[in-house]
Amino acid sequence: MANYLVTGVAGFIGSHVAERLIERGDSVRGVDCFTNYYAKSLKEKNLSALLESPGFVFDELDLSSADLSAVLEEVDAVCHLAAQAGVRASWGRNFGTYLDCNIAATQRLLEACKGRSLARFVYASSSSVYGDTEDLPMRERGATCPVSPYGVTKLAAEHLAVLYHRNYGLPTVSLRFFTVYGPRQRPDMAFRRFISETLAGRPIEVYGDGKQTRDFTFIDDIVDGVVRALADGPPGEVFNLGGGSRVTLNEALDTLERVMGRKIERHHKAPQKGDVRDTLADNSKARAELGFAPLVGLEEGLAREFEWLRSL
Ligand code: UGA
Repeated sequence: MANYLVTGVAGFIGSHVAERLIERGDSVRGVDCFTNYYAKSLKEKNLSALLESPGFVFDELDLSSADLSAVLEEVDAVCHLAAQAGVRASWGRNFGTYLDCNIAATQRLLEACKGRSLARFVYASSSSVYGDTEDLPMRERGATCPVSPYGVTKLAAEHLAVLYHRNYGLPTVSLRFFTVYGPRQRPDMAFRRFISETLAGRPIEVYGDGKQTRDFTFIDDIVDGVVRALADGPPGEVFNLGGGSRVTLNEALDTLERVMGRKIERHHKAPQKGDVRDTLADNSKARAELGFAPLVGLEEGLAREFEWLRSL
């Protein structure tokens, strides 16, 4: 039985990862500072099952100011998922929060982990580090040229993780998540908005022509990849965690209409600054070295997200 620190534990991905670790009999210390990116009540809901679990302890704390040595006591491995999320919101005055939460807090956590005998430090990176490229699928060794301030911060922190491995031997593994969806998806993300608006009888906003493509990846597959990286991900390495199949947003909406059994009223708006045009993961490295094997296709995944939202 191991003891994990999960940062950002009240978030979409953090709460699922912590639940998986607890279910298999490990202990989790979860931390979160409840940034105001979306409602605290939604994050508290994400935490509700965990708070009933004997193997789980929760601390509300900010990684940029808290005493991290206390948090790391008796921790065997760290799963660092805390971040200021959202590609399109990272411009302008908001950028300070992205700097603090995504870069400074990560550096502070890496510093605090330095010299400890941790089995792994897994860092949640993002497909947004690639930016716009015609060289698809995106490969870990390919160019990184983010097109959003958010992507710049995720890439900077990924570099920091690699540096702490090279210089201090910290066993960091970075995982580039590709547009994750499923139950508990963040309220600003496409599918959650599309389902909620349609259930409320309102039209949805499609940014641009809807022909942009995404490698949408179901939450359970991401959790599986994270758990594998925590167990024996090769230190100092970076991996794409993506479903490996790509659809246009318009195609995804057609699938969602079938799943929901109703028409989705689509209003097209201007494309948003910071959005990449296309993503597609080459996940062969994660398959070969982590045993990552995404199982959930888009139709099934959307049905599960729809069922969850309908039950709320
Ligand atoms: C998502 C996450 O929000 C990021 O945190 C993450 O880092 C990133 O995936 C990633 O893979 O790296 P995004 O791909 O923009 O970012 O995810 P969605 O919010 O689900 O958007 C998917 C597509 O739908 C985008 O083209 C977006 O412009 C579009 N969209 C979104 C709309 O057309 N309308 C909306 O109301 C919301």
